[in-house]
Amino acid sequence: MKDSATLVDYLVIGSGIAGLWFAWKADRNKRILIVTKKDSPESNTNYAQGGIAAAVAENDAPRLHYQDTVRVGSGLAHPDVVTLVTAAGPRLVRELWDLGIKFTTRRETDGKVEFDLGQEGGHRRRRIVHARDATGFEIEQGLLKAVRARGDVTIWEEHLAVDLLIDEERKCCGADVLDKSTGELKRVYARFCLLATGGVGQVYRHTTNPAIATGDGIAMAYRAGARIANMEFIQFHPTTLFGHRINDRVFLISEAIRGEGAVLKTIDGKDFMPAYHPDGSLAPRDVVARAIATELARRGEEFVLLDCTSIEPSKLRERFPNIYKTCLSFGIDITRQPIPVVPAAHYVCGGIVVNTWGETSIKRLFAAGECACSRLHGANRLASNSLLEALVFAERAAMKANEEIVEEESISFERLGGGDRISFIKEAGHDKQAVIDELLNRLRNLMWYYAGIVRSDSGLREADVQLARMAAELERFIPKNISIPILELRNMITVAKLIVACASRRPESRGLHYNQDHPFPDERFERDTVVSKDDLGFVV
Ligand code: FAD
Ligand code: SIN
Repeated sequence: MKDSATLVDYLVIGSGIAGLWFAWKADRNKRILIVTKKDSPESNTNYAQGGIAAAVAENDAPRLHYQDTVRVGSGLAHPDVVTLVTAAGPRLVRELWDLGIKFTTRRETDGKVEFDLGQEGGHRRRRIVHARDATGFEIEQGLLKAVRARGDVTIWEEHLAVDLLIDEERKCCGADVLDKSTGELKRVYARFCLLATGGVGQVYRHTTNPAIATGDGIAMAYRAGARIANMEFIQFHPTTLFGHRINDRVFLISEAIRGEGAVLKTIDGKDFMPAYHPDGSLAPRDVVARAIATELARRGEEFVLLDCTSIEPSKLRERFPNIYKTCLSFGIDITRQPIPVVPAAHYVCGGIVVNTWGETSIKRLFAAGECACSRLHGANRLASNSLLEALVFAERAAMKANEEIVEEESISFERLGGGDRISFIKEAGHDKQAVIDELLNRLRNLMWYYAGIVRSDSGLREADVQLARMAAELERFIPKNISIPILELRNMITVAKLIVACASRRPESRGLHYNQDHPFPDERFERDTVVSKDDLGFVV
């Protein structure tokens, strides 16, 4: 193994909306390096369908968007953060538009061209700015184009950040990064570092998240000693296509389709949602996902149906071309047949604790996007608030870093910790890969059944025991001959332990966390669950 070192001003880990927006907002004439573990577009961002929530309509206002976000957040959304984010929405959407991102528009009767606004669960107004049903793809492409056009941003694709570099004063000074094509470990020194590594969906058996979503940033930050919060709040999207996988993920059927009139039904055609919530099929996601889980358990069935046939076929094809084509490729014509759907893990509301400038509890380390816990969402995320949150915090992190960067300051390389360098291999080898695959399957099943939509005290205790066993089994591979699957599995076990630890510390039900042994909210727990390596004590 050959090591090399690079020095940059800003090291950005991740090339989804948060990483790219930070790079776009970073000062000119700085050395900016983005490392990303696959090709640049591969990210949760790339698959976002519904859109970005922003109070741009005439009958809307940031104040109303604020109210919806706070209500859905079930007591834990922080008012100052919600104010900041909802107020910034209209400006940020227009900035994206000015960059050339083609949101869908429509002509009003008076001739004015306005954004075509979608409707999603929990929103009291139409406020979802979208690019038909491929909003994330449009944003990802637009931002990559803009960032590349700057000419001063370097992107290393197929580079996986392994661990952060922390000096003796507990400042972040960069990261060790693995070049996946050569197996070379590169040390990147940076004056500021942004974690923008996205979500954790791959920890669960069924998820809408692509393979990159293994929680690396949260695990790295935890190992480095950062504060982590609210990991119990995992959002399960109610409607994903049943029975078909696309690589490691399931296909999302956007909530926006319910916003246009699609209705959830049991297999025998009963519209079951009104019995659970006055908003029926458009109730907040936690309610819908739990209602589906309840119906499936009660009826012993595998899926429910999403009936879109009341929507005009030409409108369905025009507004949801991606969903229409993908379902058709699996033999389902959504203009004529209901779609079999089930919930799947979708989004993590918790993550690395940041303040309103995106600063973590480690100096010079920022986090933004899904890996961060800004406390915007509280115990439940309002649909389409995450792309907006990523923009707000990536921008504020860049503003702060731009303001604080001191050109002359040198990094004290000699005081860097980091411990032993580990050696990497490109392939794990058949025998090892079989063990890794088995561990991964076990992990995903365990999390699905014991830390999923419905939890219990005994289930969480069992998950804790099993996770400790898995961590010990993984130990055998570390520190010798680590491969990428082992690194990702280590991160996933770390994240799983954080989810279970946070869930165990919340003996109540609130927002996305439902424990059947404590089925109601308890005001004693109307607070964030904040943990760190110092108090949990484990390192995988
Ligand atoms: P991501 O976009 O996931 O980017 C993470 C980046 O980090 C990737 O480039 C990845 O390769 C890289 N990375 C990860 N680990 C490492 C590592 N160790 N080293 C180097 N690079 C690494 N939200 C909405 O607001 N509206 C929607 O309509 C919407 N629809 C969604 C639909 C789907 C199917 C999914 C999965 C999510 C959706 N969400 C939506 C959520 C939203 O897309 C994400 O929360 C948001 O895109 C996260 O952006 P991000 O930049 O934080 O992370
Ligand atoms: C969707 O389109 O239903 C996803 C929106 C989101 O996750 O915010």
